[in-house]
Amino acid sequence: ISALRDTLKPLRHQAAAPKIALVPTMGNLHSGHVTLVKKAKELADIVVVSVFVNPTQFGVGEDFDTYPRTLEADVAKLTDAGANFVFAPSVEEMYPTYPNNVQVLSGDISKILCANTRPTHFDGVGLVVSKLFNIVQPDMAVFGKKDYQQLAIIRQLVAELNFPIEIVGVDIVRAYDGLALSSRNQYLSEAERQLAPTLQKSLQQLASELTTANFADFDKIIAGAIDKLNRVTVADSGFKVDYLAVKNRLLQPPKPTDKDLVILTAAFLGKKTRLLDNLEFSRE
Ligand code: PAJ
Repeated sequence: ISALRDTLKPLRHQAAAPKIALVPTMGNLHSGHVTLVKKAKELADIVVVSVFVNPTQFGVGEDFDTYPRTLEADVAKLTDAGANFVFAPSVEEMYPTYPNNVQVLSGDISKILCANTRPTHFDGVGLVVSKLFNIVQPDMAVFGKKDYQQLAIIRQLVAELNFPIEIVGVDIVRAYDGLALSSRNQYLSEAERQLAPTLQKSLQQLASELTTANFADFDKIIAGAIDKLNRVTVADSGFKVDYLAVKNRLLQPPKPTDKDLVILTAAFLGKKTRLLDNLEFSRE
């Protein structure tokens, strides 16, 4: 932390102070992360990427211990992508008094969707992101829309805690067949990997139905889509929808007059993998 601060401080005090962007990650980088870094490079002069598998956002029994840690390969990808600094602290340095005495508790939108299965997840995200913002003090921070709820919560955090940081959201980067890239996709078996793009396809189909449907029919149509997904199987594996919901872009329940909406879903595929996806759409 002090080495990073000592490095950034003189840069900040130059006559023409460079713009600094932060891209927070947990490492095991794929082209989704690299796209965020390239976006940051476009918008700022200096790009700091944090690589930190944050224990406070993992629940008991989740994959904190087995989360893939590939720092050397990550640094090579970040160098290629034009990042200037990689900040990869230890857990001890980030949380010397672990568990923290001070908590960052997010509001109502951190209690829905992903929070149903991961009740403390977003408090851990809010805490680590606040710490990273204070350590790096960037002008802007770049996040992916892949984690749509996380992005909405961070926008609230920045607004309500008065961080002078611009939050930039980047579209989901997908594989050739539509599957949203994720470090956790490597947990899928070959058969599951082939089935996985069905999730995105079902969101597209649902969005096209909801674009013109009567608002009163929304619940029935959404229940139909969940039912259909739950019946998609391969060998001894298949989808089990954790949630599939339609919200307005601020993640509030949609009103009949809302035009700009988003479908959000998390679905288990097989025993080990929970896939996350979403799709913004607009009503006519
Ligand atoms: P991680 O899962 O490593 O993701 C880091 C960033 O990459 C997040 O902003 C995420 O939305 C983005 N990202 C991941 N896959 C993407 C894809 N396919 N397309 C576009 N963006 C993608 O999210 C976290 O880490 C952590 O919660 C963190 C914010 C770092 C706090 O610990």
